Amino acid sequence: MENSFGKLFTITSFGESHGTCTGTVIDGCPAGLPVSGEDIQREVDKRKPTSPIATTRAEEDKVEILSGIFDGYTTGAPICLLIWNKDIDSSEYERIRYLPRPSHADYTAFMKYGGFNDFRGGGRFSGRITATFVMAGAIAKKLLNLIGAEVLAHTVEIGGLKAQPKGLDEIRQANQNPLKCADPEAAKEMLKAIEQAKGEGDSVGGIIEGMALNVPAGLGEPVFDTLEGDLAKALFAIPAVKGIEFGSGFSAARKRGSENNDPFTTKNGKIETLTNNAGGILGGISNGMPIVVRVAVKPTSSIAKKQETVNIEKMELSSLEVRGRHDACIVPRAVPVVEAMMAVTLCDFAMRAGLIPEVIK
Ligand SMILES: Cc1cc2nc3c(=O)[nH]c(=O)nc-3n(C[C@H](O)[C@H](O)[C@H](O)COP(=O)(O)O)c2cc1C
Repeated sequence: MENSFGKLFTITSFGESHGTCTGTVIDGCPAGLPVSGEDIQREVDKRKPTSPIATTRAEEDKVEILSGIFDGYTTGAPICLLIWNKDIDSSEYERIRYLPRPSHADYTAFMKYGGFNDFRGGGRFSGRITATFVMAGAIAKKLLNLIGAEVLAHTVEIGGLKAQPKGLDEIRQANQNPLKCADPEAAKEMLKAIEQAKGEGDSVGGIIEGMALNVPAGLGEPVFDTLEGDLAKALFAIPAVKGIEFGSGFSAARKRGSENNDPFTTKNGKIETLTNNAGGILGGISNGMPIVVRVAVKPTSSIAKKQETVNIEKMELSSLEVRGRHDACIVPRAVPVVEAMMAVTLCDFAMRAGLIPEVIK
């Protein structure tokens, strides 16, 4: 099981959904970065469940700093951050232990780990593990600020309903509304779609757009350390992510070169492109334009509707209605996670390019 990511800015995630705690160890963070507990808590709070869309688990998610930060500054030593798991109710998972939820990881986990995996709450496969990503992302974002780079994410589609945000200001504010959507009118319709699905014992999916602004040209390299390759790896670590596209993505396949090419121009003595179909990456290397990635999130697999499954202990056909605490839509809670994993990846690449010093003065 690989639980670490990154070459110079390395994060290691640990913990299980209903175990004692979940946490992250960050290695390679320069000394001298001012970090407070509130800086990290603010990011973690963004993925808190918000009524009426979300789970009823009362996740308090209080971050504890165990090492690597002293007197308000990073020390250069590994940073260990953790959250104790509270408000745990594993009874439903005992009931369905041998009834794998269709489209969850229960079956593959059972096959791979021979039934020894902690199945409670989805264990290592739970969305709860993404809190460890968000803690690391909080540090990465602060490091990226040093080079003037900013990472944003927002909901662009839920249940087939598309948002049409007016501009960057709205996108920057998106985190303040429960759906993390920069189009308030579309957000109302999305909410109705979620409530309707929930009322029918069902769930909906959607699309999150991640953006990184002011990323300098030159991050990433061919052929196995491409920037989009590592961004995709980081984003596919988020459970329920099933598709990723950069820039014009899959629609590029239906365009002509003359439509999809991004013509070069100059602006304030800098080279830019007139369009950004490349999503800010060419040849695996950032080109200085905004990095734009869209992430498809599937509908929550744990639904109340009756579904067919197999009792894997008895090898008998069975059926299942999943009860308990599940979001009818994962998208809003995954938005800060997309931001975090983009920040972690970009921070690692910025370090590889020598843009972030070992000591911050
Ligand atoms: C923030 C977040 C919360 C999640 N909450 C749930 C949930 O309540 N119920 C559920 O069935 N899946 C939830 N998931 C998704 C599952 O963990 C995921 O679908 C499962 O591990 C299978 O992995 P895969 O969908 O990537 O193949 C959540 C994912 C994220 C990112």
